[in-house]
Amino acid sequence: MLILGVETSCDDTAAAVLRDGQTILANVVSSQDQVHGPYGGVVPELASRQHIKTILPIVDGALQKANVRLQDLDGMAVTYGPGLVGSLLVGLSLVKGMSFRSGIPYVGVNHLEAHLLAIHLEHEVPFPYIALLASGGHTLLYRVSGVGDYVHLGGTRDDAAGEAFDKVGRMLGLAYPGGPAIQRAAEDWEQAGGASQPPLPRAWLGETLDFSFSGLKTAVRRRLIEACGGTADDGLAMPADLVGGLAAAFQASVVDVLATKTALAAERSRARSIIVGGGVAANGPLRAALAERAAALGAELRIPSPSLCTDNAAMIGAAGSQRFVAGTRAGLDLAAVPSLRLVPGG
Ligand code: KG4
Ligand code: ZN
Repeated sequence: MLILGVETSCDDTAAAVLRDGQTILANVVSSQDQVHGPYGGVVPELASRQHIKTILPIVDGALQKANVRLQDLDGMAVTYGPGLVGSLLVGLSLVKGMSFRSGIPYVGVNHLEAHLLAIHLEHEVPFPYIALLASGGHTLLYRVSGVGDYVHLGGTRDDAAGEAFDKVGRMLGLAYPGGPAIQRAAEDWEQAGGASQPPLPRAWLGETLDFSFSGLKTAVRRRLIEACGGTADDGLAMPADLVGGLAAAFQASVVDVLATKTALAAERSRARSIIVGGGVAANGPLRAALAERAAALGAELRIPSPSLCTDNAAMIGAAGSQRFVAGTRAGLDLAAVPSLRLVPGG
């Protein structure tokens, strides 16, 4: 079974070809970081315009790389939510058009489900497992007991973790995206033996498995105003030592909360494995903290390769293949659903 996966839910244009839902023949992604970089965050209108420009070459590229012709495909899978509506519509409309023209059936895929199942492209992870999804758009905890069997355990009440990294990166005058830049700034500062900053707050939100990062963001802003009279957003130059110290303190807060709540979820659910998805899973200190917590619980930590952690179409093809096997087919009336949920609650 040959499936083409297409993903355009946010700011990555991606296409992949999978054999039997498991073997990746091609996995092509075009990132829009350069487009949104000057604005310090994703600009929805620019994202959809960029998808329109890149989607055809990306799909062609994936088919060519896989050495597959369109008519060889058994099906197509495309993200129909959650995401930015203008972005979602580009991929969905393309796949509908291709399906209409060629007669090849297609299915709609929930982007969150695809992230939860991406790990199976590389590892055999026994169910149930706890999945932490942390990216620019989502911060969610699920218990995954099987394909289609998900329980929402918690999620962010305001900013996503990656969004907080990006916004704080901007305040500190660092490059976009903020996540890798903050990690690097913290490492450089540590190596240089910089002056420590007092710890920044952590929003524990009682016994819940929910997250909140907006107070932490405000705390960074307040420190910058106290020290410099404003932030880099105001055009002010930030002293390197302060930037590094705050980057490290901010990162420590986010990592502490993400790792503690993920471990708590695993403990409460008696899950033997923990998986992580989304761009924030690339964070070195987060990986180290999760590995430590998992070891203490006797659980196994599995993180997909970076290209399968961040938004990609291989995971869409994999989740879509499951749908095809189950006999699902989408009609041309399938709508993009920007606030699509996986299960009631999140
Ligand atoms: O999954 P992803 O590529 O897609 C979107 O959400 O669009 O995640 C991107 C997010 C950004 O917010 C970025 O700052 C964050 O992941 N990120 C990181 C790191 N690398 C990427 N955050 C912390 N540390 C990193 N090393
Ligand atoms: Zn995603």
